[in-house]
Formats: sequence, structure tokens, C-alpha cells
Amino acid sequence: MNIQNAVSDLQSALEAGTGRFVDKTFDWKAFPSNVGFPELERAQMRYIGAGGSPKVGDTTTIKPENFTLSLIYKEPGRYAACHSHEVEESFLILDGALIVGWEKDGEVVEVNLGPKDMILNAREVAHGFRVDGVEPVMMSISVDVGKPLPPVYRYHPKDHPAELARSFGAEPGKTLPFDRNGTHPLQELMAKFVVRHTELPTIWEDAGFTRKIYVGDAPKAVNNDSCRKEMWGVPSRCTLKPFTRKVEDAILCLEGSVEVVWVDDNGNEAVIELGPRDLVRTPAGQAHYIRNNGAGAATLWTVIGQAENDDFAYQAA
Ligand SMILES: [Fe+2]
Repeated sequence: MNIQNAVSDLQSALEAGTGRFVDKTFDWKAFPSNVGFPELERAQMRYIGAGGSPKVGDTTTIKPENFTLSLIYKEPGRYAACHSHEVEESFLILDGALIVGWEKDGEVVEVNLGPKDMILNAREVAHGFRVDGVEPVMMSISVDVGKPLPPVYRYHPKDHPAELARSFGAEPGKTLPFDRNGTHPLQELMAKFVVRHTELPTIWEDAGFTRKIYVGDAPKAVNNDSCRKEMWGVPSRCTLKPFTRKVEDAILCLEGSVEVVWVDDNGNEAVIELGPRDLVRTPAGQAHYIRNNGAGAATLWTVIGQAENDDFAYQAA
């Protein structure tokens, strides 16, 4: 293959692995179980796979391997009925404040999550969420398996009174606040799965950027055996050397802009610039790096298809 073809193939592959916010639309009909219940309304924008939606045939999304990634939009006053599933699922708040409730035996613990906070909903733990604030919530949801089974509803308004469904199954007086030092077993459990952005250590890499490890083997992170999740801060003019993972990773740009570069065995490069809410999924084995050519810092949400640490250190170019 000549060099020009190799470069254009690499560029095409990179573009096929890219999800642009402006090319996508929010789907208000992603969840059939919400139909007929305006209080449950939410919209989904799918980047990788279908997440909890049955719309797995959507050809505008990137095919999932170890995880899915989507945005969810929900307006004040709406909620999601309490349900459970067999997989782990994380909610990263991008805008607004979201109440997430975990239920067991009619008791509920509720946590209020703000921007850049995350909860990993543990396997088989019943959970719901609600927007009590004045702003709509935008969040990124990742399910840590390519094709999850449908959720099992515990307190859906179709078979429970509206107020009980809205409180995720808690009768009055049965809701406890989230408390890291609380002694209720559900408080103790949830404490292991809630990550506050401001409580996480900021790791300055020698390569000149920051990482906050949300899920992975790190202090105050959620320890989990499926996928690693990190928030990166990339200063202006920071450029990394290429790195290759054994699994896929996804970079969702949250703030600023960043270039993602793929490199082939002959040193040919393909480049794409991401702005806010744009994403690139890089497959396992593909050498890639990031470069911030702008004047402002970039904030990136990074999902990596395995929990273990990589066997390399990031290096500055
Ligand atoms: Fe869920």
C-alpha cells in the first residue's frame, strides 16, 4: 500500500471511531418502559453501544466492546424508576445536580451529586435517580459490558403509587442521606461507590498533565474489576508520546479542545480535534496520543476497557 492510501485509511478509521456532538441527536424514545409516564421522560444520546436502551441496532453509534457510553439529559422534576441490573453502570454528572437513590428492603439512601461527581451503581443493587434542582441534568452513563440485559424494575409507577415510585420505594421516614461515616449497611455500601471530584487526589504525571482516577486501583477511587475511568486535565501545549493499550479506550472531551492522533507502524499519523462532548474510541492495539494545541486547558473523561493499570508510564513528546 502506498503512503497516501495508508494515511487515508488510518484517517477514515479514526473518523469512524469518532462521535461528534453536533452530528448526533437526543432520542426521547430510547426507553420503552418510560412511554406514557411524562415524569420519567429522559433523552439519550448514544456514542458507544446502546447502554440501557434496547436500541442496539443504531448504526450511528460505535460498536461496543467492554463498555458503552452515552449522554443522558433529564429535566427538573423528572426521575428514573428504581431498577437493578446484572452489570455495573456509572453516572458522571456533567451539568446540574442529580439525586441517586439506592434501595433495599424498603429503605433508601440518597446522594446528591454535582458536576464531575460520579457514582458506580453496583451489580444487582436497586437504584433510581431524580432531578430535584432547578437546572436540567446532563450526565454521561457507561455500562461496563457491551450489551447489557434489560433492567428489572422494582418500583415503576405502572405498578406502584406515584409517590412511592418517586422516592425509589421508600415510605415516608425510610429515606436516609448519604453519609461516608454512616453506619447503616446501605450507607456503608454506597460510600464505596460514590466519588466526589473534589475528594479525589490529583495526580500530576511527569508527562505534564493531571489524572483523577475515579474507578481503578487508586486511593479514594472505586475498586472495580471491569473498566477504569479517569478525568484528565491537559494544559495548553501538552503533547504525549504515543501509547498502546491491550484494550480499547474512549476519550470524551468535556471542556476545551484536544487533538487525538493515531499512529501506524510506519509512523503515519491521522489527527482529529475534539471539542466539548465529542468522543474518540481507540481500539485495542492502536498506538495513539493526545496533544493540546490550544491556549486553554482541556478536561477529558477517559474510559479504559480494563480495570488493571497499564504497563507503561505516560511520557511527554
Ligand atoms: Fe441502571
